[in-house]
Amino acid sequence: MTGVAVRKYAPPDRESVRQIAWLTAFMGESADVFFGDKEVLADFLTLYFTDYEPQSCFVAQADNRIIGYLLGSTDTRRIQKVFFLKIATRILLKGLVSGAFFSRNNARFILLLIKSLFAQELYAPDFHAEFPATLHINIRKECRGQGIGGMLVSSFLAYLQEHKVRGVCLSTMSEKATSFFEKMGFRLLYRANRSYFKNILGHAISVYTYGKRL
Ligand SMILES: CC(C)(COP(=O)(O)OP(=O)(O)OC[C@H]1O[C@@H](n2cnc3c(N)ncnc32)[C@H](O)[C@@H]1OP(=O)(O)O)[C@@H](O)C(=O)NCCC(=O)NCCS
Repeated sequence: MTGVAVRKYAPPDRESVRQIAWLTAFMGESADVFFGDKEVLADFLTLYFTDYEPQSCFVAQADNRIIGYLLGSTDTRRIQKVFFLKIATRILLKGLVSGAFFSRNNARFILLLIKSLFAQELYAPDFHAEFPATLHINIRKECRGQGIGGMLVSSFLAYLQEHKVRGVCLSTMSEKATSFFEKMGFRLLYRANRSYFKNILGHAISVYTYGKRL
């Protein structure tokens, strides 16, 4: 691929970012295997970043098309605060009004999530003091393995250094992505099991938390 450019996110990129989030949400594959409403899922995965901290987000573009993104934040505490105060209710209302929460597949996934919550599977240690920043990165399937993820992460790390942020951590359920983050200088901080995709995969999977000091 020629002419790939990494640049700061801008509001016209919002729909492409939401589309890529949908196409990659299941460990790099489309979300439709576990959830049937793109708008609700895209709100859950991207709304904080695109609407409340767009200055910390980057996109990769080739031939006038967005081919990947890195949605970042300098402060995970702020994400939690904004999510619970402003975004959660909006998602809840959207899911109820559109009927998204009542379809069989979606209701099953939500119940599995709640089950994981009660089984303490969603617990994660608080790494905020050492690693206050975070990121989510996704590249369109056909554009992976060509250095684009590396370019996005390098741009974000330079941005964090400019803003004197101490460290960055992230979580991923993609085993393949762990090698990528290790290559980018991240180290494994924590690993836990999650069972809410067991009905699709036939087994529980691990969630890996990686961190990098800056
Ligand atoms: C993970 C992902 C972001 C990596 O981006 P990418 O553009 O494919 O990766 P790059 O081509 O920039 O690779 C950068 C380096 O990591 C290495 N790397 C990338 N993917 C790898 C893999 N699956 N296994 C081993 N090494 C890998 C590359 O070899 C490369 O090293 P090099 O510079 O020495 O050649 C991308 O593949 C992706 O979007 N995957 C699906 C979604 C996902 O898993 N997102 C992460 C969850 S937060």
